[in-house]
Formats: sequence, C-alpha cells, structure tokens
Amino acid sequence: MKKYLLFFTFPCFFLFPMMFVYQSSLFGSPQSLTEENDYGTMGPVSFKKRSKHFQLKTCKSLVSQMNTSIPILLIDVVFLQMLEKESCETCIGKPIKIGVDVKHLSATWILEDPRFEVLYFTNESAKDYLDFRSDPRKIIPKKFPTRWVGNVEVPNNIKMFVGFWQRAKFAECLNLHIPRAGAKVRMPARPSSAVLARLRDEIIENEMFPFLNGGTLLGWYRECSVIPHTQDMDISVFAEDYNSGFVEKMERNDSSFMIRRKFGMTNDSFELTLAPKDGFRVFIDVFLMYPGIENGTVTHHWVGGVSPDGTKYKYTYPVYDPWCAADLHGHIFWVTCTPNEKIVKEYGKLWYLDHLTSKYSWNSSGKNVKRNGKWTKEQMKEVYKVFKG
Ligand SMILES: *[C@@H]1O[C@H](CO)[C@@H](O)[C@H](O)[C@H]1NC(C)=O
Ligand SMILES: *[C@@H]1O[C@H](CO)[C@@H](O)[C@H](O)[C@H]1NC(C)=O
Ligand SMILES: *[C@@H]1O[C@H](CO)[C@@H](O)[C@H](O)[C@H]1NC(C)=O
Ligand SMILES: *[C@@H]1O[C@H](CO)[C@@H](O)[C@H](O)[C@H]1NC(C)=O
Ligand SMILES: *[C@@H]1O[C@H](CO)[C@@H](O)[C@H](O)[C@H]1NC(C)=O
Ligand SMILES: *[C@@H]1O[C@H](CO)[C@@H](O)[C@H](O)[C@H]1NC(C)=O
Repeated sequence: MKKYLLFFTFPCFFLFPMMFVYQSSLFGSPQSLTEENDYGTMGPVSFKKRSKHFQLKTCKSLVSQMNTSIPILLIDVVFLQMLEKESCETCIGKPIKIGVDVKHLSATWILEDPRFEVLYFTNESAKDYLDFRSDPRKIIPKKFPTRWVGNVEVPNNIKMFVGFWQRAKFAECLNLHIPRAGAKVRMPARPSSAVLARLRDEIIENEMFPFLNGGTLLGWYRECSVIPHTQDMDISVFAEDYNSGFVEKMERNDSSFMIRRKFGMTNDSFELTLAPKDGFRVFIDVFLMYPGIENGTVTHHWVGGVSPDGTKYKYTYPVYDPWCAADLHGHIFWVTCTPNEKIVKEYGKLWYLDHLTSKYSWNSSGKNVKRNGKWTKEQMKEVYKVFKG
C-alpha cells in the first residue's frame, strides 16, 4: 500500500523511469520511444504546446511534493538545471540530492525517504560557507539567493549555484611554520581576508568566479594565512567570464570598492587595483587570466602586467584548474586544485622559504615572468590609468 502511494505521489522519479525501461525493452531505441509515448497516450495535440504545459506543471508540483517536516536544501545540480529549463519530464529516476543541516541529524527517517539522497552539512556562524560531509569534502558559499517552497529551500540563481558546486572540492593548505623574527605586519590576516571575502561576493554577484593567485595563493597554501609583509592581495577571474558590468558599477560608485588603478584592455593584460571604500584598507589586484593557445589547444594560462614606461609582462602558468575551494580565516575562496604545481612555476623550487616583499621585484623575481612587448605612448593613455582617492 505504501509503495503504491509513493508511485502516485512521485510519478517522475518512479513511474517514468519504469515506463521507460518497460517500453524500451519492448520497442527498442529510447529516443523514438519518448515521442511515441507522448503521442500515443495523449492524442494528436500539438506536441510542443502540450509538452510545455506538461513540463511546467511537473516541475512545480515536483518541488512542492518534496516538502518535509525539517528544512532541506535542494543541491541536486542535474535536477536544478532541469528546473531552470522547466523540463522536469526527463527526470532521471534517481533520488534527488538534498542538503540537511547536521542539527537535524536525529531526524534519521529522512535517510529512509526514497525521494532523497541526503548530504549533511554544517553551517557555522564563524564561517561564510556550508561544509558538506561528503567524500570528498565539499564547501560552498553560504550567501546565495533562494526561495522557500514549504520547508524546501530552492536556489534561485541556478547558474551561480551550479558554479559553486563545480568548485566545491575542499583543498587543504600546508600550515608550514615560517620563521619571521620581529618582522612588521603590514597585512593583518583576519581583516584583510574579510575584505577579500567582501570583494569575492561582489564579483560573484556580477556572475564571475574569482580565485586566489600570486602571493595570496602562496600565503594560503604555505601558511594557511596571508603573508604578513605583503602589500596587496591577488585574485584572478578567467577572461572568458569577464563581465564589464562589474567595472561599470564601480565607476558609477555602485560598489563598496573603488578603482585605484586600471591597466591593459580586457582582451589583453587587464588588471585592476581595488580598495574598499570603508573598513580595513587593503589593496587588491584583480587580474584577468587568459588562455594561452598554441596550435588550437590551450597549453597554458597567463596574466599580464605593465611598467609605467609601457613595458608589458606575461606571467605564465600551467593550464589553470581553479575548481577547488579553500578556507582562509573562515572565508571560502576558490583555488587551483594543483597549488604545488602553480606555486613552483611562479616561485621556484624554494617556494617554501620566506622571500621578503621588499626584496621581491614584481617584474623580475617570478620564475614565470617574461617581457611581452610594449604599449605605445598613445596606447598608454588608454591602458594605464591611476586614480587617486
Ligand atoms: C545558515 O545559517 C544562517 C544563520 O547563521 C541562516 O541564515 C542560513 O539560512 C543557513 N543556511 C542554510 C543553508 O541552512
Ligand atoms: C510543508 O511541511 C510543513 C511541516 O510538515 C508544513 O507546516 C507546511 O505547511 C508544508 N508546506 C507546504 C507548502 O506544503
Ligand atoms: C558614493 O556613494 C557613497 C554611498 O555609497 C556616498 O556616500 C558617496 O558620496 C558617493 N561618492 C560620490 C563621488 O558620488
Ligand atoms: C584588443 O582590442 C582592441 C580593440 O578594442 C584591438 O585593437 C586589439 O588588437 C585587441 N588585442 C588583442 C590582443 O586581441
Ligand atoms: C605547432 O604546429 C607547428 C607546425 O605544425 C609545429 O612546428 C609546432 O611545434 C607546434 N607547436 C606546439 C606548441 O605544439
Ligand atoms: C621592472 O619595473 C621597474 C619599474 O617598476 C623598471 O624600472 C625595471 O626596469 C623593470 N625590470 C625589468 C626586468 O623589466
């Protein structure tokens, strides 16, 4: 009896796949089948029109049929993408992945519920991410728009949420002890990480996914912190994801950051230096990272730099893979999944030794930096902008 009820309440998950298996074994190829099935059972109505109506109804009712007595978060990327396309009739026949806060660990019945595949997460107030007890461990930012359908929390911006999930695999830092006798701290780790997290959120709101690089990546990986004598922080965004709305908003004063420097063109060596308008003062360099294409394949990635005299520099990395997530003083940041490889390329084999910022030349110390031509005097008027503030 109970099983029958389930069939009727959740036709998409159970009935559909069953029909599929049944019919495909009878008639062969699944593709011709779906169509035959639609026409066969519902008569000669316009296929497009009817299926749209059908889809809309199915998606909505599916979500409302997921209601439970404890709050759950829909995290099933495949299902969410179908929801976005309003085409839930192609349900996958698997239970839907949901996130449940560990504070509801005692509600063990949810584990028996055939509608769901449960992934527990912790939601600590001192951290700005949800920490999933999956294997491998995954973390995603806490802050994303959602709506509630009963007790079901549904992410609103599916593209953003899927982007979080693609970058969720947790990466560990080494936490090496770096001896530094009495050196002055220019960059206190906690407030500077908090400002970087604020910028991260603004960049995410502008539909981009920033990742740590340069000295900030090195500090995170080596020390699980921020190198104290550094003068700025570094993050990158893939050039193909660049959204000019981000800079336009800052230029309209519609941001909590201001532009201090803007170098290059968005298609070549683009770099911004930003500073927060209030709170702890820290300069953050945002680089666009470009694919290095040779003979039609991406063989490396690079970011640019420029001297006041117009000399351009190229910092080259192995093909970049910013699909992992890390903790920096309670804040989530995306990082390369192969930090050792990237850091050796930039800082050399002795990367684990401290190199004083005062003795580090931005355009010659890196092992991965090469001159890359020169902007003309005329171009420099456009590509080298320094603002005061
Ligand atoms: C995490 O906790 C915060 C309160 O600290 C709450 O607003 C938020 O909804 C929680 N997120 C989830 C997914 O449970
Ligand atoms: C969802 O379930 C809760 C708890 O059983 C109930 O209070 C609520 O009214 C339900 N909401 C919807 C939309 O069904
Ligand atoms: C920028 O916006 C802030 C409020 O966010 C305001 O206090 C400030 O005066 C504005 N600055 C300019 C130059 O418009
Ligand atoms: C970048 O765009 C400008 C025009 O905005 C063009 O003149 C220049 O050649 C482009 N540079 C590259 C490397 O594609
Ligand atoms: C690109 O192709 C050319 C000619 O086919 C070859 O000489 C060259 O070595 C190739 N370069 C790389 C990086 O594969
Ligand atoms: C590095 O940049 C400085 C200016 O910041 C310049 O004087 C120097 O010549 C540059 N070095 C190289 C190797 O390009």
